[in-house]
Amino acid sequence: MSVLPDLLGSGGSVLDLVPVVPVVVVDRAEDAVPLARALAAGGVPVVELTLRTPVALEAIRLIAAEAPEVVIGAGTITTPAQADAAVEAGARFLVSPGATPSLLAHLGSLPVPSLPGTATVSEVIAAREAGFTEVKFFPAEASGGTAYLGAVASVLPDVRFCPTGGITPASAPSYLALPNVACVGGSWLTPKDAVAAGDWDRIIALAAATAELRG
Ligand code: 3PG
Repeated sequence: MSVLPDLLGSGGSVLDLVPVVPVVVVDRAEDAVPLARALAAGGVPVVELTLRTPVALEAIRLIAAEAPEVVIGAGTITTPAQADAAVEAGARFLVSPGATPSLLAHLGSLPVPSLPGTATVSEVIAAREAGFTEVKFFPAEASGGTAYLGAVASVLPDVRFCPTGGITPASAPSYLALPNVACVGGSWLTPKDAVAAGDWDRIIALAAATAELRG
């Protein structure tokens, strides 16, 4: 078994597993396991599988059961019920694009770690009041990008961010160089056409290239 799931299980943070967390959309459940294995083969044994398609929960279930070397998480969580369903399917971490007080309270009550979505200082403070010092910054490029993160570092020195939304291989290094950024999220590791064609070699190569992005 890989050491990564153990790391997460013993209190390690999702944010420290890999520099780029793949934000994945799966249209066919049968693509889930080969896609997750391709990412792991490229050195990225983490998947944020978004709840944006009807097969998403089944895809999480399949990866949890058949690719235990991959730390499988669920993304695009916007309701407590989705969070419960994702945990029941086997998600080991949860990510939300934004949060309300009730969603924050629910995420904080679950047995797996969550990264609540934030885009403003007030939202980060609300998340911190609910017990979260690690949050997603979304949509990163549209909400101020690296300039925002640099500006909030001095007022929120205890908060670490995973920015996602509009980040590319070209812009990722400038995010990863910031002291309050632990990792970034991006969908570019699993292009729709590569998944549709079962081009797992392309996904292995895209995953492997992320190792170069941290300065
Ligand atoms: C997310 O949910 O984090 C984003 O959809 C990922 O953004 P991207 O597609 O711009 O990488």
